[in-house]
Amino acid sequence: MTVSKLMTTAAALAISATAAFADGKVIGFSQIGSESGWRAAETTLTKSQAEERGYQLQFSDAQQKQENQIAALRSFIAQGVDAILIAPVVATGWDGVLQEAKEAEIPVVLLDRMVDSDNSLYLTAVGSNLVHEGEVAGKWLADTVGDKDCRIVELQGTTGSSPAIDRKKGFEQGIAGHDNLKIVQSQTGDFTRSLGKEVMESFIQAENGGKDICALYAHNDDMAVGAIQAIKEAGLKPGTDILVVSIDGVPDIFKAMADGEANATVELTPNMAGPAFDALEAYWKDGTEPAKFLQTESKLFTQADDPAGQYEARKGLGY
Ligand code: AHR
Repeated sequence: MTVSKLMTTAAALAISATAAFADGKVIGFSQIGSESGWRAAETTLTKSQAEERGYQLQFSDAQQKQENQIAALRSFIAQGVDAILIAPVVATGWDGVLQEAKEAEIPVVLLDRMVDSDNSLYLTAVGSNLVHEGEVAGKWLADTVGDKDCRIVELQGTTGSSPAIDRKKGFEQGIAGHDNLKIVQSQTGDFTRSLGKEVMESFIQAENGGKDICALYAHNDDMAVGAIQAIKEAGLKPGTDILVVSIDGVPDIFKAMADGEANATVELTPNMAGPAFDALEAYWKDGTEPAKFLQTESKLFTQADDPAGQYEARKGLGY
């Protein structure tokens, strides 16, 4: 057999293996919305993963509202989808609808955010260690400022969401024991660029035109990018006058790092769907129960990690 025929046969086998898994399966995906570049990339990757694996994806955009997500889940259950993926906007209030999915024998996989429901109500959760991400950011800042006094302003994520709760907690753990580091302002920017800018403007006003601020910690890169704009408009240099550390690893933060306007980010992979589909496929094949939490990696990037190259590598990936 020629090499090209071999490759054709291998490709055909791969396609039929995928088709055997897909088997006309329908997946309901309840996405939070499009608040950030990271969220956009997660949506893009989930759609492409579903297409590559031969699933029909029913996509529902909740526009940041839990009631829309609950309605979407109820509609998926009524349709009898084969599985549900959900990125839950907040952590509380899911017991009822998850119980309904369980009674309908529809496996549910949580993506990137956690819920406070009993873990018997979902098959598995794919996500990062959100406390650890905050802790990495806090430790980086403590190491970077050393003994210097440092007044920190914090832009929190969506109130009541697991990343806002855990990234705050983790950061506080990261700076614990460094009495020279103090969080002096902390408010939600709802994970959006526009609110990040607006809230940073109010922090700057409250902190002597920004001159009393040593560092910004933002729970995501989009809020940091908005805040960088506010810092520049106040006549200060982001990355120098005010250190900037955030979480996600979106292309725009790498661009800001390459320009010296941001200092560090902790990467969150947007490919949550890959491990989710792998877990579902094993479950459908022979009932394999995945671990209740499938953890993705969290890596720190600083200005020393070729931010221009990171920007180039990521800019076409759907962020
Ligand atoms: O849940 C993950 C967080 O949600 C991302 O860090 C943020 O950008 C998104 O909106």
